[in-house]
Order: sequence, then structure tokens, then C-alpha cells
Amino acid sequence: MAEKTWVRMVTAQTPTNIAVIKYWGKRDETLILPVNDSISVTLDPAHLCTTTTVAVSPSFDQDRMWLNGKEISLSGGRYQNCLREIRARACEVEDKEKGIKIAKKDWEKLHLHVASYNNFPTAAGLASSAAGFACLVFALAKLMNAKEDNSELSAIARQGSGSACRSLFGGFVKWIMGKAEDGSDSLAVQLVDEKHWDELVIIIAVVSSRQKETSSTTGMRDSVETSLLLQHRAKEVVPKRIKQMEEAIKNRDFGSFAQLSCADSNQFHAVCLDTCPPIFYMNGTSHRIISCVEKWNCSEGTPQVAYTFDAGPNAVLIAHNRKAATQLMQKLLFCFPPTSDAHLNSYVIGDKSILKDAGIEDIKDVEALPPPPETKDVQRCKGDVSYFICTKPGRGPALLSDESQALLHPETGLPK
Ligand code: DP6
Repeated sequence: MAEKTWVRMVTAQTPTNIAVIKYWGKRDETLILPVNDSISVTLDPAHLCTTTTVAVSPSFDQDRMWLNGKEISLSGGRYQNCLREIRARACEVEDKEKGIKIAKKDWEKLHLHVASYNNFPTAAGLASSAAGFACLVFALAKLMNAKEDNSELSAIARQGSGSACRSLFGGFVKWIMGKAEDGSDSLAVQLVDEKHWDELVIIIAVVSSRQKETSSTTGMRDSVETSLLLQHRAKEVVPKRIKQMEEAIKNRDFGSFAQLSCADSNQFHAVCLDTCPPIFYMNGTSHRIISCVEKWNCSEGTPQVAYTFDAGPNAVLIAHNRKAATQLMQKLLFCFPPTSDAHLNSYVIGDKSILKDAGIEDIKDVEALPPPPETKDVQRCKGDVSYFICTKPGRGPALLSDESQALLHPETGLPK
């Protein structure tokens, strides 16, 4: 290594993902090996992503991490497992211009700084750990010149948080549960990229909730220990559904896609109810959204929108195309209107062009919306939804080469 002190940095951006066939239950808690395969859609990082800068320098005296500007501990087992695995794959790095030479064996002694930032509110209960661990592993692999491809990296991100392995790719992604005891074959593969089915529009309803939810980790542990439905689901239901879902995605068959997504989300929440003590992730607002979508899909004769809910009350609604998304937005705003004009602007975020298509420019347009014809006696509930995010399927991880986007100072390696 050169005598002069230096800082080498890499910045990456990684999307979050939402499962349409759910991962729920581990067969190995430490390695994070699941009891079934799962499939997800990656969300557009323009609206939901994590940006992470990783840095290495001989001047750092310990590994440190800052999340959304606040220092957090890296001592947890999941961080330690990811750091150990990626360090073991580090290769020689040489930057002649900066006079940096790091030999393979040096990586064991060198310390790291990590700064991570989510472009969406962490409190919203949207899977931030998935994007976070995927970004950490991806950025470190680039910093350390690791030769592994994204599938191999996904098996490391998996050890941070199971769902994180699916954030190493864009489009539709399958996490293969694998058979090996060491977890080496439990990794993510891309089914199709984000261009394959680009008419899909995704609207997330961030549902207001006062309840502190059971974490996924604790919830799925309780389900594995107590739910017979989980055993049946993992053995009999999911293997068939995975095949059908792969076909539906390949053929862009929205009817089958919607039927499978909704059924799988509902079965996951049924497993939660079958757990002792029972776990309730959805609330009354979640149930109203399901009813609204089910009635509409039924009245149309063919599904227009799929819904799926993770370990919380937020609804992820996947519309067949822009026309369906526009109608969905109108129905949602009728049922869950914002409190004022000022609110409308921050009430629908992300790709606001859907609002325009829906002919909604201000609060008067929301007030004038007709009630959904398929739903009788709908009440309009202000305050039950915190806000909506309009987005679409998106790409996988990317490196940000522009130094101005780095979260760490290029000379000190401390947060900017
Ligand atoms: C309901 O990946 O958060 O979102 O592996 O314990 O970190 P750990 O759990 P996590 O669980 C996600 C569960 C889910 C379904 C899914 O994403 O497939």
C-alpha cells in the first residue's frame, strides 16, 4: 500500500422490490434460507431506492455506518455476515492516478465507512432493508473489485435480509430457495427485465397506522413454529404457483398474474392469522382497498388491478396499463380524498402524470369525482391513507459515477 493516506469510494443505487409470490418462513435462521421460492417485481428506483457510498482508507480505525445521516451500529450478526462474506471475495485494486494499491490480503485489515440514504420515508413501512442490504453488498463488491455476478452477490445480500437478494436485479425476479445446507444455491435470478412488461403501473397506498407491527423476522419465526397452513403452503401451494406465475409473466397474461398475486397475498395473511399468537398486518383500510379492487375486477369481468400486501397495512396495487391506473387513481381518490389543495401535491407523489391523465389538478376535481359505480354506499374517508406513490417496474442496481452524488466526503470519508 502507498504510504500517503487516501480514500477510495464507490456510490451505488439499488431499488426496492415487492413480492408477488411471498417469502414467509425460514428453514435456516442464520443463513436466511427460505421454506419456498418467491417472485418479486422491482420498483423504479427513481421513486423508491437506497443510495449507498462505501469508502476504504488506511486512516479509518473501525468499520462505521450512517443511515439517513445517523450513525448506527454495524455489530449485528446480519451486517457482520455480509461484511465477512464480501471481504472474503475482495480482489486486488490499483488506482495509479491516486497512487492507491490494495493487495487482496490487505482487505482483512482495512476498515470501511458506509453511508446510506433512502429516497422514501423509512417510517412508511416500505421494505427499506431489502434495498439497503442489496445496495451495501453491491457497492462493497465494486469497491473491492469482487468478480462475482449479481446472482452470486444476491446470496450474500440474502444473509442481510432475505428479500434483499431480489433487489440485485430489475424487472421480475425469482429467489430460488435452493437445497444446499450452506445456502450456496439459495439465490436470485432475473426472470425478465423491466422492459418486458412496461405497461404495468404501480400505485402504493401508504396506509396510516398507529399500531407497531411485528417485524417480518419475528413474525415468520412464529409462523414456522406454529402454523400448519404455512407447511401446506410451502409444500403444496407455492411450487405450483411459482410455475404458473413464471408463465403469466413470460406471456404478459395479466388475468393470471392478478389472480395469482392476490391469492398469494391473501394466503400469506391467512398464514399470519393461523400463527399463534395471530399476527394482523392488514387493517380496516387495507380491507376496504381489497374490496374496492375485487368489486371493480369482478364488474369488468377481467382483472384490471392486482393487489399485494407485505408485513404491514400498505397496499401495493399493480394496474394492467395506464388506462386502468387512471381509473384506479380516480376510485382511490374518491374513497380516500386528501384534506386540502396543499395536500394534493404531497398526497400523490412519484409519477404525477397519472393524476393529470385522471383530469385531477386540484381539490375541486377530487370533490367532483363520481362514486365508483360498482360500489354502493361508499364512504369517503379522509386521513385513512397517508399518501400514494405512483411508480412502475424498474431497473436493478447501478453505480453512480458522479462524485457529487457521494454521501461521504472524498477526503475525510465522513458524511457530507
Ligand atoms: C412479507 O426479508 O424482511 O415482505 O429475511 O427476516 O429480513 P428477513 O425478512 P424480510 O421478509 C420479507 C417478507 C415479506 C414477503 C417478501 O418480501 O417476500
